[in-house]
Amino acid sequence: MTDKKIIFSGVQPSGEAHLGNYLGAFRQWVDLQDDYEGFYCIVDEHAVMGEYEPTDLQHRIFDMAVSLYAVGLDPERSVIFVQSHVSEHTELAWLFNAVTPVGALERMTQYKDKSARYESVPSGILNYPILQAADILLYHADVVPVGEDQQQHLELTREIARKWNARFGDYLKEPEALIGTGGRIMGLDGKAKMSKSLGNTVGILAEPDEVWAQVRTAVTDPQRVKLTDPGRPEVCNVFSLHKLVTDAAKIPDIDHQCRTAGRGCIDCKRILADSIIELFRPFRERADVLRADPAEVWAALSRGADQARAVAADTMREVRSRMGMTPT
Ligand code: TYM
Repeated sequence: MTDKKIIFSGVQPSGEAHLGNYLGAFRQWVDLQDDYEGFYCIVDEHAVMGEYEPTDLQHRIFDMAVSLYAVGLDPERSVIFVQSHVSEHTELAWLFNAVTPVGALERMTQYKDKSARYESVPSGILNYPILQAADILLYHADVVPVGEDQQQHLELTREIARKWNARFGDYLKEPEALIGTGGRIMGLDGKAKMSKSLGNTVGILAEPDEVWAQVRTAVTDPQRVKLTDPGRPEVCNVFSLHKLVTDAAKIPDIDHQCRTAGRGCIDCKRILADSIIELFRPFRERADVLRADPAEVWAALSRGADQARAVAADTMREVRSRMGMTPT
């Protein structure tokens, strides 16, 4: 352990990561990795609610690991691992059931949204934030960099830490959320947040023609029907994405051309697609190298799990002792 502050964050194994993951979270993870001691977890146990194919999950874990390494998270500098490879996560989550009111879980927006999609709601959908709190608190994280959609779960994590500390003595650290500057990245449909399950994403490892095929479907200002209609960049999701990925020097012109109908939406989207293709180019190149040696990717994840387990096991020894399970 060093005296650097600690970062923890997680991502579901949804396969290849998307632009929303990158702008909302990963970009900060990479920027912060030299200044903090980082723990980054592929949260597979969060991803088993509902129907899924086991072999498919394995591929999605692999693809997410490739995405993390490809954007520049370095296993030599950060601990990158799979949640289920460190069994302390589920153990602490169970113990947190003792201090978490059901009402607090039922209030979570993500629970309300997700449970509406099931005919019979798995209890793991309700208990999801307890496991997330365990992920974070096991590593005494100071800071948790996440997208805006995770803020509520972070508040509950702090509440669980406070309640547990009040009952068993001051030991768990209340982490701060560090919300990505891009805020909530909207999907290409412009209606909901960018999310793999909604099919409104651009994959960070997509080939240039796939990026264009996705971006050309993006919804723009609905009032701009004809090429000669002036547009309103402030309500256009394509413009919001430009501000996040296109060279800042080009933004005033993109704004101006939209307002004066000097450029059509399709051309504006072409510029956006080109910006995204350039942004992702180094990721694709690194991913090609990583995919050529899958055994090394799994071995790196296994080394990450060993490092994570060493910290998590210490925390659990103290937690069990404070909860009266082992002699003090
Ligand atoms: P997940 O897998 O949905 O997303 C991973 C990270 O990407 C961010 N993100 C977004 N940010 C902005 N706009 C979007 N459209 C967008 N989509 C995704 C998320 O905010 C997140 O930072 N519950 C978490 C995973 C998790 C976790 C944790 C996170 C489990 N345990 C502990 C932090 C700490 C989730 O489902 O993220």
